[in-house]
Amino acid sequence: MADLRDTIARLDPPPLATHGREEELCAAYEAAFEEDRETWLEFATPAVERLEKGSFSLEWMNTDGGAWGTKVKPSSRGLTFMDLNRSKAYGTIADSVPDHHRNLTPRGSIRDPYKDQLPVYDDFVVTEKWDLWADNVSTLYEEAKARQWNATKDIAWDELETLPEDLEKAACQLATFLTEIEFLAGDFPAKWMYRIPAEFLEIKAFLATQIMDEARHLEVFRKRALAGGGGLLHVNPMFEWASKALMASPTHTSGAYFLNLIGEGFILSVFRGGEFLARTHVDREIFRRCLQDEARHVAFGTIELKNYLEHHPRPDQALALMHRYADIAEVLVSTSILQPVVLEPLAVLMGGGIDEIDSGMDGVAFLWDVVKEEYLQRCDRAGLYRRDVCKFGELPWKAAVNR
Ligand SMILES: [Fe+2]
Ligand SMILES: [Fe+2]
Repeated sequence: MADLRDTIARLDPPPLATHGREEELCAAYEAAFEEDRETWLEFATPAVERLEKGSFSLEWMNTDGGAWGTKVKPSSRGLTFMDLNRSKAYGTIADSVPDHHRNLTPRGSIRDPYKDQLPVYDDFVVTEKWDLWADNVSTLYEEAKARQWNATKDIAWDELETLPEDLEKAACQLATFLTEIEFLAGDFPAKWMYRIPAEFLEIKAFLATQIMDEARHLEVFRKRALAGGGGLLHVNPMFEWASKALMASPTHTSGAYFLNLIGEGFILSVFRGGEFLARTHVDREIFRRCLQDEARHVAFGTIELKNYLEHHPRPDQALALMHRYADIAEVLVSTSILQPVVLEPLAVLMGGGIDEIDSGMDGVAFLWDVVKEEYLQRCDRAGLYRRDVCKFGELPWKAAVNR
């Protein structure tokens, strides 16, 4: 026992290699360790004493307070989260997560006897079901697993046709912008995944699939830019400002609305226009595969927003806040899209070449209206009526053409 005390007393936390702040961070880590040392000893002491006596606890074999004997039946798809959640013990999701469950304790496990012993993870701030739930999450999770694909070998890279330089430049510029977007689309769910207690495990699991999807997307567009012998082109500084604002979203639902409904909704509408934008069958296949993935993310965000507006304890306040938030998000997204690095390559691809950029812009103006209408439909579905107040406006090009 004394040896163990000495070992813990001498335990050195691992050094952190973080930009020249190692000393400071290591000292803070040691201080936190000192604060919790007594707690850890309280766990270590009885366990070691029991082992020294050669006796066993076997408390874990006591099933009181658990759901021992629950047998779940697979459905035609196999054994899904939906099948598990038909059992009351495992499928009852808390409306509000108490502090003693703000950690990684699995829903349905025997955890109440330990509630005074469990730590609170301070980062786990999304404790209310109305603040993150989406009823379609388990179905989308199953679909995400079934539809994973591999950008290394599922795209026929060796069949990519050589395009005239103007079209290849436009394809590469679009791929550059899409790569930039995909980083944001993965980083946002990653940031929030660690803020969600294990109680909402289906949401955590779905966000993990979204993170993987976005990794594959940034991979496929990076590869597309290089595969045609062109390469990555210009970044979009305005988009970086919009992304920074999105990452700073105050709540998960507000950020998910910004990312999934507006941002990914835009991408979804653009990919649907793949027939007009893709100048090779390889590009068409890339858009088709990404479209399937984005449709899941958009569906998740839409139903999460609906859940938020329907179940928030103060619905009027929730609706007013979302409108204030949307006033900003719509401006940021539309301003990012108006940049020449986005609109002009779309116009060149739509028109079929730099000489046809004017007629291409007419096509882009049409696409802009489709993007806006599909976005408004998603908002309608979620219960956020933006039709009369939407900040997207007309594409200035279209206004000029109509004058
Ligand atoms: Fe994506
Ligand atoms: Fe996405």
